[in-house]
Amino acid sequence: MNFRWAERMSRIGTESAFEVLAHARRLEDEGRDIIHLEIGEPDCATPQNIIDVAVRALNEGATHYTPASGMAVTREATARYVTARTGVPTSLENIVIVPGSKNILAFLLLAIIEPGDEVIVPDPGYPIYRSLVNFIGATPVSAPIRQENDFRLDIDELRGLVTPRTRLLIVNTPANPTGGILTREDCENIAQLAIEHDLVVLTDEIYGRLIYDSAHVSLYGIDGMAERTVLLDGVSKAWAMCGWRLGFGAMPVPLAQRMDTLMINSSSCAAAFTQLAAIEAFDSPESDAAVDAMVAEFRRRRDILVDGLNRIPGISCRRPAGAFYVFPDVTATGYNERELQKELLDEVGVATLAGSTFGPHGAGHIRLSYANSVENIERALERIALHLGAGAVSPA
Ligand SMILES: Cc1ncc(COP(=O)(O)O)c(C=O)c1O
Repeated sequence: MNFRWAERMSRIGTESAFEVLAHARRLEDEGRDIIHLEIGEPDCATPQNIIDVAVRALNEGATHYTPASGMAVTREATARYVTARTGVPTSLENIVIVPGSKNILAFLLLAIIEPGDEVIVPDPGYPIYRSLVNFIGATPVSAPIRQENDFRLDIDELRGLVTPRTRLLIVNTPANPTGGILTREDCENIAQLAIEHDLVVLTDEIYGRLIYDSAHVSLYGIDGMAERTVLLDGVSKAWAMCGWRLGFGAMPVPLAQRMDTLMINSSSCAAAFTQLAAIEAFDSPESDAAVDAMVAEFRRRRDILVDGLNRIPGISCRRPAGAFYVFPDVTATGYNERELQKELLDEVGVATLAGSTFGPHGAGHIRLSYANSVENIERALERIALHLGAGAVSPA
């Protein structure tokens, strides 16, 4: 059949991580040895205590539909978790449980954005923000995130982007792809701007537990923000549960009610046994200890990767404060980032992502994930150094 595609399909984007992964897998099928530094998920297993709870839940009959926004016990546990992390009194009515946190963004856009509205998105930023904003017919407006500003939002620049058509501001801390974070001062300045211009804010804090040298600051927790903010989070990154598909949003009650209707019209609900496993993730000291161990391991790998990259002539890499990505400037290598991504994968078997796939301001950078073993990170560094003609990068 010759399908006539809806016009909106010409406006939807994708996540290049999935495409690069597919290309890397094809090379592996041909017998090539590929080191995966393009990945966006922890390489460790989900903590055993969480798996045990899920298996028990399945055996005990958690195989049915649940209420659309989630089981009361899960929403209550999530509300307690949000209150503990942000200080905002949050109850079950503020929480929507979804099969993957992207749904929270999609539902928010569907609920409050009209074609022609403007949505400020971080650039470089998670590509789904821009894709979904375009898809629903609104205009994404880039808020530049720069290495020289430690990958923080520049508040004066942000102020200059607000117009009478701006409805929503999306922020992400710690951030994909840069690993940058917002400080308390940044959050307070953003809050002031949002309140002044009556903006809704989506704060994506899915990497909020993966932070190395300082405490995470939630924009949701800044005075006056909870009434205009949607906090997006989930279990994917903190407890290595990407494949379980369980995300959540915390938000004002009227918005949560609209999201409930959108859940009824789309997924019906998130899987029951994953909802019960999430309670174990939020509540048990064992799960907390697993997060702490993962953070310690990621810090070690981050330092090895950053130090190794900075020894390669032409590469300049900041030590990111959070998430599990580095986003070095590669302009001085003489390559543009897309050529470098392609050559590193095709010629030396190191999968990375070109920074410009995260927005025009990502040009000149590549994203490398350190959700891989130290051994593989060291092998990748050696291959990159050899390819760029710098020889091996043994410790200085
Ligand atoms: C910034 C950011 N937000 C949201 C997500 C979506 O996470 P999930 O759909 O697994 O909850 C990701 C996944 O990579 C991400 O990087």
